[in-house]
Amino acid sequence: MIEAKAYIQKTAEMVHQELDHMSRNWIDIPNNLKESMRYSLLAGGKRIRPVLTIATTEALGGDAKIALPFGCAIEMIHTYSLIHDDLPAMDDDDYRRGKWTNHKVFGEAMAILAGDGLLTEAFGLLASGANAANLSAPIALEIIQDATRYAGARGMINGQVQDMGNENKSITLQELEEVHRRKTGDLITFSIRIGALITGANKETLDALMTFSYQLGLAFQIQDDILDVVGDQAVIGKPVGSDEHNHKATYPALLGIEESKRRLQECIHSARISIQDRKDLNPTRLLELADYLLMRDR
Ligand code: IPE
Ligand code: IPE
Ligand code: MG
Ligand code: MG
Ligand code: MG
Repeated sequence: MIEAKAYIQKTAEMVHQELDHMSRNWIDIPNNLKESMRYSLLAGGKRIRPVLTIATTEALGGDAKIALPFGCAIEMIHTYSLIHDDLPAMDDDDYRRGKWTNHKVFGEAMAILAGDGLLTEAFGLLASGANAANLSAPIALEIIQDATRYAGARGMINGQVQDMGNENKSITLQELEEVHRRKTGDLITFSIRIGALITGANKETLDALMTFSYQLGLAFQIQDDILDVVGDQAVIGKPVGSDEHNHKATYPALLGIEESKRRLQECIHSARISIQDRKDLNPTRLLELADYLLMRDR
């Protein structure tokens, strides 16, 4: 567990440095827009998604440096989704990553545009990352296409739409699982999938990693729901009680805290089983990360 924490810290720091460095060089982006984009991007998220891209790449014998631009692109997509998620028209939250939300500082119009900017920049970065890694054209194009599939209107955005539509409604566990799978699981799946694609993993390995990431993504959102009830705002860096305030459909609302924790453990267990005996990858780090996510307090 200590090792997973140290690995996340070290890798997250590398991601942070890279994001800082590359965004300083956005010389042709207007200063006020750039400031708003950098404000949220560098506010200090956990960087779990890029960490997963890098850890998957390493588990398959690849180099972290090759994975880094892809991880940064995913972090940009994730950050855009958070800026928009916090808007008054959506969850209407004031704090994020321990700071005022983007729209509180820069206004709603700029927050929308900063999100748009981060999303669009991410596609450029996926392309330049593919170039730097010397990927074949079919693999590079598959990554770009997957970005639309997992982050777009079929994936993460679909989940956000369902999440909004379910406010003040009682839904089944199956329906809730589908929302969580889309709004959070899909981007986590994409993060892990990229690691497999850039290292040329075979179909069976890719399938195993997809099962792993599906369970991990669901677990991640269950824990996010739990922390929204029992977390400490100073630690999670965002408001506690936001879901209840917005009458969201969540695991604790549907099942209670104890049963939600049990479901979380089940997901992590299923995630572990899907990769632990595979000979074609070194699962140690990914298994440690899964266990760490089960225990996380932020
Ligand atoms: C929060 O994601 C939103 C979800 C999809 C659960 P994170 O918990 O990864 O947030 P940061 O990036 O650390 O701020
Ligand atoms: C957000 O889910 C998922 C996305 C941003 C795609 P939440 O609304 O639960 O995330 P937090 O709790 O605000 O971070
Ligand atoms: Mg939300
Ligand atoms: Mg929210
Ligand atoms: Mg939440």
